[in-house]
Amino acid sequence: MFTSINDRSVIVTGASKGIGKGIAEVFARAGAKVLVVARNGDAAEEVARGINNDGGIASATSADVTSEEDMKEMAAIAIERHGSLDILCANAGIYPQTKLEDMTVEEWDSVLATNLKGNFLSVKACLPHMKASDYGRIILTSSITGPVTGFPGWTHYGASKSAQLGFMRTACMEFAKFGITVNAVLPGNTLTEGLMELGQDYLDTMAASVPLKRLGTVEDIGNAALFLATKEAGYITGQTITIDGGQIIPESLEALQEA
Ligand SMILES: NC(=O)c1ccc[n+]([C@@H]2O[C@H](COP(=O)([O-])OP(=O)(O)OC[C@H]3O[C@@H](n4cnc5c(N)ncnc54)[C@H](OP(=O)(O)O)[C@@H]3O)[C@@H](O)[C@H]2O)c1
Repeated sequence: MFTSINDRSVIVTGASKGIGKGIAEVFARAGAKVLVVARNGDAAEEVARGINNDGGIASATSADVTSEEDMKEMAAIAIERHGSLDILCANAGIYPQTKLEDMTVEEWDSVLATNLKGNFLSVKACLPHMKASDYGRIILTSSITGPVTGFPGWTHYGASKSAQLGFMRTACMEFAKFGITVNAVLPGNTLTEGLMELGQDYLDTMAASVPLKRLGTVEDIGNAALFLATKEAGYITGQTITIDGGQIIPESLEALQEA
């Protein structure tokens, strides 16, 4: 049992729903003080309220990860409300699906701005506060899509998710002297509110392509992020954890069926 997260101050971006909400709840249950961040402040407040009602400690703020000003304010709010800033889960991301031949420059830029520049700005804003803390953990939410796999309609998304890992590998070098680690979680298909709306048939088909025969839960992702945030994971930096039920392993449909 890892207990070293207790009382640590964590920011989770993109925490009003989906994987970010799951990460926020997992960290809160482990005793961390959580700042729930999303552009929709009301939705973020609702998540924080739910955590507080369950006995955890959380508050919320509205911020856009593509805005340097918002990211600086977000970090300052964590300090003001929770006394320190120890952990950043840079999770906010978008994934509109458009084939390359129809993709506009605006859509390309918006995906890269949220998924990649958002990592840069949130990490940069949190860095001075983490340097001042005796603790520093940064966990990026990347994806299997891009770093490992491809999916039609996601050239921009795949590029952004791979680029996050390039960013991580240099940031972890720069931050090592401060004792700050930078790692990434790579979720496979994870059951979020948006995915559930696609219907049971779709979910069943997707689950069938996973060796463990189920989709990931947001808690599966939260638990991996939590491990990387512990004191015990302090010698791990610049690394990725894939959480996909083995989805990327079978080399063919036959391999999956044989098993
Ligand atoms: N779901 C999956 O199967 C899956 C698989 C692999 C990787 N991922 C990654 O996991 C992360 C979360 O995905 P999800 O499926 O949980 O998405 P989601 O359910 O659509 O939630 C996205 C969250 O990000 C926030 N967000 C979006 N743009 C933002 C911005 N500019 N500034 C601040 N917050 C912003 C959203 O709130 P607002 O709109 O209110 O800002 C929301 O809280 C993403 O990085 C995604 O690439 C997901």
